[in-house]
Amino acid sequence: MTTEGEARTRTIPDRIRLTPTGWESPELKGMLVSASEIQSRVRELADEIQSQLPVDKPIVILPVLSGSFLFAADLVRHWRFACELDFIGLSSYGASTQPGLIDWTHKLKTDIKDKHVLVIDDILDTGQTLDEIRKELSKHHPTAIHTCVLLHKTLKTSGSTRFQADYTGFKIPDHFVVGYGLDFALKFRQLPFIGILSTNCHGTNAD
Ligand code: XMP
Repeated sequence: MTTEGEARTRTIPDRIRLTPTGWESPELKGMLVSASEIQSRVRELADEIQSQLPVDKPIVILPVLSGSFLFAADLVRHWRFACELDFIGLSSYGASTQPGLIDWTHKLKTDIKDKHVLVIDDILDTGQTLDEIRKELSKHHPTAIHTCVLLHKTLKTSGSTRFQADYTGFKIPDHFVVGYGLDFALKFRQLPFIGILSTNCHGTNAD
């Protein structure tokens, strides 16, 4: 079933744009999503989510550390209703750009029983992380778990409806991306845009 959120998702073509002036680096191939595209889509997402969730019911917003920190901060600035906000932490890439074992770096501390939960993550790749989060949070008996990701790499999950977020900012082609919270070896998180990592960086020290 296609949710309204999915229907509004922007699809980013596989076209590498010039890295904005001042941000050029030999480790960056170029830009995939601009800062202004991100900001306008984040605003839209916040409106979409608030128009569809029962905002008069208890809701806990749970950004996933660390990659979603900028996305979540910008998204919740548009949140007009009462909510609790806490964080969970997972790491799936270890020291490479290839997904590995999922490790909980910050477990749930908040009581989510009989509450709606909105999980905010940076990127859905194979979908394992979101699946693990759903399974773990379900054990705490929330009323419902809603998921929102900024980016969804479409190639790896195409043909499968198993791993989808309820709300997706952008569907992107399969590149290792950095910026707007996403890092490579702890670098590039501060970029206001989504960039593509140079292929010669892959396989070493990505977080
Ligand atoms: P899965 O495969 O579990 O992956 O859906 C989701 C998590 O993997 C990380 N990830 C990336 N991090 N650039 C990054 O900096 C990428 O292109 C990328 N792809 C996946 C990320 O932590 C995400 O939560």
